[in-house]
Parts: sequence; structure tokens; C-alpha cells
Amino acid sequence: MVHPRVYEALSQPVVGHLDPYFFEIMSEIEESLKVIYGTTKGITMVISGTGSAGMEAAVANFLESGRKFAVLANGYFCDRISEMGRRQGAQVVRFEKPWGATFEDQEAADFIRREKPNLVAYVHAETSTGALQRGEAICAAAHDVGALVVADCVTSLGGMPVNADLTGIDIAYSCTQKGLSCPPGLSPMFLSPRAVDWLNQRTASPRSWYLDLKLIRDYTTASHRYHHTAPISMFYALHEALAVILEEGPENRWNRHLRCHQAFVDGVEAMGLALHVPQGHRIRTLNTVRVPAGIDDAKVRARLLAQAGIEISGGFGPLSGKVFRVGVMGPLATEANVEFLLLEFRKALVAEGYRS
Ligand SMILES: Cc1ncc(COP(=O)(O)O)c(C=O)c1O
Repeated sequence: MVHPRVYEALSQPVVGHLDPYFFEIMSEIEESLKVIYGTTKGITMVISGTGSAGMEAAVANFLESGRKFAVLANGYFCDRISEMGRRQGAQVVRFEKPWGATFEDQEAADFIRREKPNLVAYVHAETSTGALQRGEAICAAAHDVGALVVADCVTSLGGMPVNADLTGIDIAYSCTQKGLSCPPGLSPMFLSPRAVDWLNQRTASPRSWYLDLKLIRDYTTASHRYHHTAPISMFYALHEALAVILEEGPENRWNRHLRCHQAFVDGVEAMGLALHVPQGHRIRTLNTVRVPAGIDDAKVRARLLAQAGIEISGGFGPLSGKVFRVGVMGPLATEANVEFLLLEFRKALVAEGYRS
């Protein structure tokens, strides 16, 4: 859900992409992003493109032909980043687990120490499964073998803590349309000092010109040399969305999402439904509920949309027809909304033949 103040910001007069006012907005965005990424040491920047552009920027700038890329693969977006690595000519090695499972510290570290990659990737909050991946052990093992770590924070940033510095993440990317409550269109990124050093020392140009982080950074901070025509209105939107988050207070926001997640879980369990991901490994922003035997998930979803205007998603890939994916984030994440959602969800399930 886009915050009403963000809609308002989108309608403000557009300045030029080299206007000093735009760079003021940009630098305030970068400062606010540091707070929600949880960094005092690293830098933040914003890519003009959706979350996948941030993913591709991470891969295109930190991989090149022949470099080894280790992916902890337990869902759809791990597959996407693996494919991007392949297209960069990297040697991709994967530690695979079923969709919804997570990696224990020891096994993740053993994999990384054995493979000795140059870059490691994991998805912090896997939207296809609802699973949360801890990153501390992954980052520690990667740093031991001289690798950098990229974390996909598309479904965590703005709705739950990322703690980039504490975790040891080197590169992270996100989107604007999930926890930040904006329309889609930008990808906020984080780079650790280690990642910035690596970039500065890189002599070969990345294969992608548009996503060349050095060129983009030059445009947004240093020389303000034209790189691309930034989508100004989206930057206004992100600027306002971050102001809303900082006014609420990041801790308050994470806690609100946690309370709503818990209320949702309690509610569906009380209906006799089961969550796909075990307790302790779930993300706060998106819940995966197993579809009960004999129920057609598409019919329940269509009914919920028609009866209450509530859109929830289905599973895909190996989870197709097996889970409902229910996002509860941003201004939508209130106890009253969760109560309404549970009520309508139960009605739709019962109408489609569910008996608890
Ligand atoms: C975990 C994750 N990574 C990457 C992406 C890609 O982001 P986008 O669709 O904004 O390009 C998504 C989109 O839902 C996602 O959930």
C-alpha cells in the first residue's frame, strides 16, 4: 500500500535531473537509507530501476568472467540471481535446499569455506517462500575466504531490521514497493567500505553501462556528471516514504510489523491452518499459509478479491497451489486490518469448502 503522503509527494513539480534541489533530495535519501539499512560505516545509493535492477547491479559490478559466485539457493529469487551471475560469465556454485527451508550457520559456513568463492549471495527475506535467512555466519565465513557478500533485502527493508553493519553484509539491494510503501521503480542499495574499496580498485568496466555503480555514484554525489535522467517524481516519493518511516521510528515500525505478523499467524493457526515456514524462520512482512487439502487456492484468492477487495498471492514454482502468500506491510500493517483480513479470509475459505 502506497502511503497517502507518498501520493502527495508524487504530485509535486518536477525539477531537472541536474537541479541542485534534486541532489539535496538525493543526499537526504541516502542519509535516511543509512538508518534503515543499519549502517554508520557504509554508503547507500539508489538505482533507477526496480529491485531486479539492484540485483543486477550487484552481480554486474562485483562479478566478472571467471569469478566464482556461491549462492545459497532456497527460493525463486536465489534462482534469479544465479542466472544473472551465469550471464556475467561467473562460475556459479549453489547450495540448494527445498523452497522454504533455511541454512544453518555451520552448513552455510562449511559450503563457503569449501568453495572459496569471490562473491556469496543469499536472500534475507525470500518472497516466494516467506523464509528469513540469517546472514552473520555467512558473512563471517565469506570474509574468512576473502569473498564479499550480497544480501537481497527486497522484502525486508522498511518492514524489519536489516542491520547491514552488524551482520557484515557488503552489498544489499531492495525495492520501493514493499516495506517502503512507495510505487515500484527504484532500488535502494547499500555498500560496505569493503565493497566500496573493491569497486574503486576494479579496473575492468562492468558489462552493464546503465548499472555501473561508479558512474551512477559519480552522477549522484561527486561530480554530478550526467549519467541518466533520474525519475525525479519517484525520488520525491522515496524521500517522503523515508521521512514517514523515520517519524514513526524504525524500531516502532519493525515492532508494528512483528505484532501484525504474530496476530496473523495466531489467527490462521486458530482456523486450523498451518504456516509453511517453521517458527523462528519466518519473515514479518509476508506470510506463507499452506493451502488446506481439497481447496483450490486460486478460487479462494479470487473470492477474497471480489468480496473484500483484498489481494493475496498464490505460490509458484514448487509451491504452486500449495501456499497462499499474504503480505502485511507498510500502512496496511495494523491490528485492525489483520482482524479484517482474517475474517474475510475465513469467509472465502469456508465458501470454497474449507471445514476446520
Ligand atoms: C526477494 C526479491 N528479490 C528480488 C525481487 C525483484 O524485484 P522487482 O520485482 O522490484 O524487480 C523481488 C520482487 O518481488 C523479490 O521479492
